[in-house]
Amino acid sequence: MPKHFLMCRPEYFTVEYAINPWMHPERGSDRDVAVRQWEGLKAAYEELGHRVSLIDPIDGLPDMVFAANGALVVGGRVYGAKFAYPQRGAEGPAYLRWFAERGYPTLDASHVNEGEGDFLTLDEVILAGTGFRTEVVAHQEAQEYLGRPVISLKLVDPRFYHLDTALFPLDGRNVAYYPQAFSAGSQEVLRAMFPDAVLATAEDAEVLGLNAVSDGTNVIVSAEASNLQLQLKRLGYEVIPIDLSELRKAGGGPKCCTLEIRGEN
Ligand code: ARG
Repeated sequence: MPKHFLMCRPEYFTVEYAINPWMHPERGSDRDVAVRQWEGLKAAYEELGHRVSLIDPIDGLPDMVFAANGALVVGGRVYGAKFAYPQRGAEGPAYLRWFAERGYPTLDASHVNEGEGDFLTLDEVILAGTGFRTEVVAHQEAQEYLGRPVISLKLVDPRFYHLDTALFPLDGRNVAYYPQAFSAGSQEVLRAMFPDAVLATAEDAEVLGLNAVSDGTNVIVSAEASNLQLQLKRLGYEVIPIDLSELRKAGGGPKCCTLEIRGEN
C-alpha cells in the first residue's frame, strides 16, 4: 500500500538555537548538504512508490523541515501541533493551514503536543510519548478527537526527547525500540504489548537509528545504524540506508522529516 507523506525542503535550515542536546549552534551547519541529503530521502520514498506532498518552508523557521512535528493525521482528521518552545511556535499554524486549505477537518489543539514526533499510529492504537515535549493531556485530547485509543509512554533520556527518536512501527502491529529511553513502567507496557519487538542497542539509538520509517516491507533507516539494519535484514525487511547526518545536527532523522497523511479528506 503506497503511503502519502508531507515534507518540507530545508531551504532555511540552520542550527541557531539549542532546544535538545543534539543542537550546538556554535558548531555550524551546511544548508546545501542538508538539502542534498533531504532530496535523497524524498527520492527514496518516490522510488518506493509513495506519494510526497510539499509544504512551503518559511524563512525564520529553521526546524520546519521536521514535518513530523507539524500535526497528527489519522482517518483524514488533523490534530494540530502546539509546540513546547517558542522558537518553533509558528510552525503549528502553518501546518494546520496547509491541511485546512485542502479541506481536511482540523483541530487547533489546546495542549502542548509535537505531532507525529510524539504520536505513532498503529492499526489499533496510537502510541504517545511524554516527558520532554508533549503533555499527557494532549494524549487525551487526541484520543477524543481521533476516536482511537492512545497509550501514554514516558520518555526519560533527554537525547530521545520525542517518541519517534526511541521507537518506530515496523507495521501496524509491531515496533522496534530502544528500551532505555523509556521509564521502567513504560518498558513493562512495551514488553507486554510487543513481545516480538526488535530491540535496538545504544549504538543504534545514538545515531537516531530509531527515527526510521517502515512501510511494512521497506525500512528507511539511518545509514550508521548497523546493528539495527542487520536485525531488520534477518527478519526479512528491505533496508534502505539514508544519510541525514547534517539534519541530525538539529536532532532529526528520516522520520522527523516525514509527516504521514492517513486517510484522505
Ligand atoms: N530541532 C528540532 C526540535 O528539537 C528537531 C525535531 C526533530 N523531530 C522529531 N520528530 N523528532 O524540536
